[in-house]
Amino acid sequence: MTSQDNMSEEHLPEASHGHGGGPVVAPDGYFADPGLPPHEHRRTDIDEKAARRAERQVAMWFMLSMVATVAFIASYVIFKPGPTHHVYIWPIGNVGPLNFSLGVTLGVSLFAIGAGAVHWARTLMSDEEHISERHPVESSPEVREQVFSDFRQGAKESGFGRRKLIRNTMIGAMAMVPLSAVVLFRDLGPLPEDKLSTTGWKAGMLLKNMNTGEPIQASDVQVGSLTFAMPADLSETDDDFQERIAKDALMLVRMQPSDIKDQKSASLGYDGVLAFSKICTHVGCPISLYEQQTHHVLCPCHQSTFDLSDGARVIFGPAGHPLPQLQIGIDTTGNLEALNGFTAPVGPGFWERSE
Ligand code: FES
Repeated sequence: MTSQDNMSEEHLPEASHGHGGGPVVAPDGYFADPGLPPHEHRRTDIDEKAARRAERQVAMWFMLSMVATVAFIASYVIFKPGPTHHVYIWPIGNVGPLNFSLGVTLGVSLFAIGAGAVHWARTLMSDEEHISERHPVESSPEVREQVFSDFRQGAKESGFGRRKLIRNTMIGAMAMVPLSAVVLFRDLGPLPEDKLSTTGWKAGMLLKNMNTGEPIQASDVQVGSLTFAMPADLSETDDDFQERIAKDALMLVRMQPSDIKDQKSASLGYDGVLAFSKICTHVGCPISLYEQQTHHVLCPCHQSTFDLSDGARVIFGPAGHPLPQLQIGIDTTGNLEALNGFTAPVGPGFWERSE
């Protein structure tokens, strides 16, 4: 801040200001207004051919934005989601073509609008320099009229009305960009319908230890232990492994039959061995924390807690449903096997569904 800033206008000595007319001499003790350097015209100001070329370049940016928006929408139709469709793209690594394509096309679409606007401003809009003097905050009717007049002048100088090619392509690009948001609504659907009640578990399907890959003998499941299992026909090398394990993952626990409070749940198990879905009924996180003394399992995402001794009833947290249970028994060799599908649809409980 200079000493001038601290003085009211009536205390300031008379001094002329440099409005592009070169430096002025300041009274003793004050800084001189250096004024503006001589204005240099751009090529597009003096060469109509260069101006037309710049106009075409700006229009090309806006048209590129429109093409990218169309490509964004087309990506939804062309590429399929899911890990089985991932491809290797250097240097990013394995990515889903759908996500990659959506990101690139939306980025190009927005960038092209910005680049077109900047190029337009730098090459074709007026670059006359003005100095605005400080003035009282409140504006008089004359000042307001001046503002509107300046605005109209600016609009005229920008060539918005005269350069119809730029105007129309810019309007087209900006009108089309919101279409990208419209197609994003597609991700809100469709509803899962019966997909959450259709899993890989069916009568006769052996339980396989998720860590060892071996069938599970009922005698191997100890009281107080927690074992993760999956259907015997599922392998980590399967193309649809991620899709299936998200619904088929199972928790096996064994408790003393006298500890099981819910007798219906006990009847679905085998000799104290109970099998429950590992997928939380809140929003589908995998559950893994088991407290053997209380038979409670805790979901790490939002702390929903289920009592496995009481039919996996929710005793705390936002989950709205008990964990679905799988009815199990043993085959002729003592291996645990499913006797049915889950008692209820697995996973998130916010879908409208009947159980
Ligand atoms: S996903 Fe388990 S509590 Fe939210």
